[in-house]
Amino acid sequence: MNKYFDYAASTPVSSEVMEAMKPWQSESFANPSASHHEADKAAKAIQQAREIIADKIGAMPSEIIFTSGASEANNLAIKGVAFQFLNEKCHIITSSIEHKCILNTCNFLEQLGFEVTYIKPNSNGLISPYAVKEAIQENTKLISIHHVNNELGTIQPISEFGEVAIDNDILFHTDAAQSFCKLDIDVDDMDIDMLSLSGHKIYGPKGIGALYVRDSRSSDLVPLIHGGGQELGLRGGTSPTPLIVGLATAVEFFPKGDLDAIEFLQGVLSKHAYVRNGGFEILPTIFNVTFSSLEEVKIFKESNPWLISQGSACNAMSNIASHVLSSIGLTEDEARRTYRISLPPFK
Ligand SMILES: Cc1ncc(COP(=O)(O)O)c(C=O)c1O
Repeated sequence: MNKYFDYAASTPVSSEVMEAMKPWQSESFANPSASHHEADKAAKAIQQAREIIADKIGAMPSEIIFTSGASEANNLAIKGVAFQFLNEKCHIITSSIEHKCILNTCNFLEQLGFEVTYIKPNSNGLISPYAVKEAIQENTKLISIHHVNNELGTIQPISEFGEVAIDNDILFHTDAAQSFCKLDIDVDDMDIDMLSLSGHKIYGPKGIGALYVRDSRSSDLVPLIHGGGQELGLRGGTSPTPLIVGLATAVEFFPKGDLDAIEFLQGVLSKHAYVRNGGFEILPTIFNVTFSSLEEVKIFKESNPWLISQGSACNAMSNIASHVLSSIGLTEDEARRTYRISLPPFK
């Protein structure tokens, strides 16, 4: 079997997570919003899950809003703020190397008349807090910049973005889909107002994620899915107990450091001519490498027929440089020789 080294795109569900989800699929399937004791049982399990996830980022359980994943969480954060300003419109600051779900949300808002500034990274994929500060306008209401870049693994200085935001009375949202559980996060220390996370990047199930919303009970965030008042009215829909329990179990059982895979990969790569992209502060399990020539790529691929990603999963079907690679200045020729090899994540 081909070796799977595309864990930044998705991880398998761990056995602990599978086991924990099982009883909530068939035995205890009651709607957690109903008013009988089976419902109470499910509601309690959800509450416990909320506590585990909140604890991981230094938040309050009530500040965790479950969504279908990070894409929905990102949509809720950005549209949820923007839609408060439908009449006067507002200005949003983000970066040119966000995940497509952020960029396409911002493009959509631009079509509605909102203003968006896309900060460009330097050649290492780093976004400068100074550039963020410089981009602030009188009507800026939101700064949204990711924590770890999904293609490069670059770790962004999110505390510094948080500081810029708080100093200017602007909300700060971060897409932590690639960093949650893998790096320390404290929403208070880092001045984060909203944070998106996803289950299937941490050995949890697909179809579940969450948006942390500071002071969610008094939040002005406009919901995207109106429903029966679930998730403090911020996200309607019957709460998926198995997925929520699965997400919390993934957090509890997230594996501790294992350097073997990294040493193995470094050993393999040392036989090839390549440069690693993404600068100096990179998530240790993401390797974005540009091989020296197409011939080198061929040799690497022949001796290592792995499942890896070219540019990013979203761009795998197209033959053009991904928006991230072109933002850091790679030519199309270099992008064609560039691959993301992502190892099983750990902390
Ligand atoms: C940085 C980042 N944001 C958002 C997403 C989307 O997450 P989800 O699949 O949970 O919607 C991903 C995953 O592809 C990601 O890497």
